[in-house]
Amino acid sequence: MAQQIKTVGVLGAGLMGHGIAQVAAQSGYDVVLREVDEATLAKGIGKIEKQLARAVEKQRLSQPDADEVRARINGTVHYRDLADCGLVIEAITESLPLKLEMWREVDEIVKPDAVFATNTSSLAVIDQAAATGRPGQFVGLHYFNPAQVMKLVEVVRCVTTTDEAFETAYEFARSEGKLAVAAKDKAGFIVNRLLVPYMLDAIRAHEQGVGSIEDIDTGMMAGASHPMGPLTLADFVGLDTLAAIADVMVDAYGEERFSAPETLKKMVSAGDFGRKSGKGFYDYSGDKMYLDFARQAVTRLLATQEPDGGFAAQALVPA
Ligand code: 3HC
Repeated sequence: MAQQIKTVGVLGAGLMGHGIAQVAAQSGYDVVLREVDEATLAKGIGKIEKQLARAVEKQRLSQPDADEVRARINGTVHYRDLADCGLVIEAITESLPLKLEMWREVDEIVKPDAVFATNTSSLAVIDQAAATGRPGQFVGLHYFNPAQVMKLVEVVRCVTTTDEAFETAYEFARSEGKLAVAAKDKAGFIVNRLLVPYMLDAIRAHEQGVGSIEDIDTGMMAGASHPMGPLTLADFVGLDTLAAIADVMVDAYGEERFSAPETLKKMVSAGDFGRKSGKGFYDYSGDKMYLDFARQAVTRLLATQEPDGGFAAQALVPA
């Protein structure tokens, strides 16, 4: 039987963690959001406040409701504040040694019947589960970026996960209004197993001169109805993250199609991580909305190629 959860701990307030915390608070859970220092914590909470303000502005949320959501999120830099959480979800850097170090500390503090979950994109869940004193109560809960918008959560059962822990995590995801799918503990689970080689292949297609960055993105938006082209998506996911996932997947499967292409490696070495660093396949510098550069590029391209005045540009690329 699934456990009832009241308070959710979220470790990491970065790209994924702040969204996971916001979704939990919007679903009525009390949230303890932990970061390594006050400045990083403030940045994550600032993003949540901005999203809540936007929801109020768009009349999707009333101001009192937004205030309640915000009040349910307690930021901290101390693990001790997680003690009473029924579920703890980690969304820290995708590094196994860092995650193991963190779980060892959290395991000592959080109540023994709590379920632990990792939002890892590609690491084996069992490697984290086995490092805690509660391998049965350990699952993967894999959210998609932006967590506030994307409907899916992959619920990953590793070899030690009990039925009760799996059901608790599955029901939790559903209680957040998400579509939950069960996935096995295989590198990349379902979605990244398919999506990561697709993005890597788009980079290879560009390297091989199959098409320009804009043409490749336009091709998949206009030819396959994807909301973003693969290179825009790579920038959105983070090129450093994409390269890290590729490294794990190529090790796990030994197949060349999972390996990071040269261009990706060079961009990461240069510090071009995509949207979060201001530069990737597109330039996000300045104070424009993050997708503007990609959008403008694709809009221009569609408009110049649409003889009847850019209907496709308007339909595919909303202003
Ligand atoms: N946080 C919160 N809300 C956001 C957001 C964000 N970062 N980005 C967009 N939104 C909201 C907006 O507020 C907007 O809602 P509103 O219309 O009510 O204001 C809505 O989403 C649509 O946003 P926009 O109109 O600005 O832009 P789009 O219509 O282009 O949608 C998108 C943006 C939802 C990001 C869409 O482009 C999309 O679905 N892209 C594909 C994303 C994707 O594939 N994600 C998965 C990546 S893989 C992954 O995460 C796995 C990991 O392990 C690597």
